[in-house]
Amino acid sequence: MPSVVTSGHVIWLFGLPGAGKSTLASSLIKQLQTRSLGVLALDGDALRAGLNQGLGFADADRTENLRRAAEVARIGVDSGLCVVASFITPLNTHRRLIRKIIGADRLSLVFVNAPLAVCLQRDVKGLYARAQAGLLQQMTGVGSPFEQPELVDLTLPTAEVSPEVSAAALLAFSLARLGRPA
Ligand SMILES: Nc1ncnc2c1ncn2[C@@H]1O[C@H](COP(=O)(O)OP(=O)(O)O)[C@@H](O)[C@H]1O
Ligand SMILES: [Mg+2]
Repeated sequence: MPSVVTSGHVIWLFGLPGAGKSTLASSLIKQLQTRSLGVLALDGDALRAGLNQGLGFADADRTENLRRAAEVARIGVDSGLCVVASFITPLNTHRRLIRKIIGADRLSLVFVNAPLAVCLQRDVKGLYARAQAGLLQQMTGVGSPFEQPELVDLTLPTAEVSPEVSAAALLAFSLARLGRPA
């Protein structure tokens, strides 16, 4: 079946490492594809393995990582795709930069919100343990800040509800933003 033509939109998931961004992005992408919507998936880890190889976690590199991601997202949305982006996006300056590049009317900022204590406990990739042992510098939440967001279109409190409930809320929100029936 051909992809359904939409006017594109960017769903930008942000939050601490371990908050649930990639989990919820994967679920959303699957659901949108089931509806034959054209999707572009941009995940921080995947971009750092390719397009953004060589960038580190100092302020300037984090900004460049996100600037490039937002520029790719803009190309996606210009092409009519639903872009699902998942990046920590730790600072309000980053969030404003993304909005400037993509355009406020074509972007939804989704805060995947779990307290640091919960993310530390989940420690999906073992990075918090390494950071707390002093083996990893500039880990967000430990050696590098995560600012409380000023710009948020949707908050998903993933420490309080199940992945299924969070995914359903994200899907309903995204379909509404895309102007698609639920
Ligand atoms: N409501 C929820 N939404 C998303 N993930 C959740 C939720 N509750 C628990 N989790 C778990 O939290 C972890 C999040 O990992 P991940 O998606 O890789 O985080 P991130 O991409 O933000 O670093 C997964 O193990 C997931 O199953
Ligand atoms: Mg992730």
